[in-house]
Amino acid sequence: MKKKFRRIAIGIDIGGSGIKGAPVDLKTGMFIDDRIRIATPPDASPDAIADIVKEIVDSFDLPDDVPVGISFPAPILRGTVPTIANLSQQWAGVHANELFFKKLKRPVTVLNDADAAGYAEVHYGAAHANPGTILVLTLGTGIGSALVSAGVLVPNTELGHIILPRGIEAEKYASSGVFEREDLSFEEWAQRLQEVFTYLEKLFSPNLFIIGGGISKKYKKYVPMIDTNAPIIPAELRNGAGIVGAALMAYQDDKKAGKKK
Ligand code: BGC
Repeated sequence: MKKKFRRIAIGIDIGGSGIKGAPVDLKTGMFIDDRIRIATPPDASPDAIADIVKEIVDSFDLPDDVPVGISFPAPILRGTVPTIANLSQQWAGVHANELFFKKLKRPVTVLNDADAAGYAEVHYGAAHANPGTILVLTLGTGIGSALVSAGVLVPNTELGHIILPRGIEAEKYASSGVFEREDLSFEEWAQRLQEVFTYLEKLFSPNLFIIGGGISKKYKKYVPMIDTNAPIIPAELRNGAGIVGAALMAYQDDKKAGKKK
């Protein structure tokens, strides 16, 4: 008898304030169980975070072969965190894939948080089936970026760290963290974002910009003040995008690994 074909993976989103997870139906991109959130421990050390990830994964009580995708707020090069800006420096140089695999004993894929969110938006959200070049920017403590062209993700673009023509790093000038810290008005913030978008548009000429992060809900307050050739639209999956994109990537990686065996 043909084995029943299941398309499920667990997605985990690691952030500075919370670690969230849910099992995802990859046909629809919807959660199949309640999302669980545990606060990120203050020291955010690799061991402490790995323990929480295990607690969340175990709570879903799914078979051992269900893969886990982990969205992480740093670049991920062949499973390793080369540098990290907005979470504990203890992560620098850590082989995150190995760490989580040892803890979870399941197939694991770790990827950058903005890449995970962007991948989800292209598959299930605001850029669904869009064949063009899409640049996703997540506006939070930092600025994350995902570049997707014809459905293919170019990982680890890290565009939040580009130096703007005025000589300052984009995320230190225009993240939503800076907006809050410096108590900027939406007009002032929009002017700063304008510089970021103008520069990125010059470099990549995308067909579409998608903005994510909590503040994308309020896009009507600042996006109309930004002038770009490509439209800027808000992410659709919002809070769930990192979880869904990580789950999808883990599922696809696991399938590829299975074929190689
Ligand atoms: C990190 C990126 C991350 C972004 C959003 C940046 O500081 O370098 O890897 O995607 O913050 O979390």
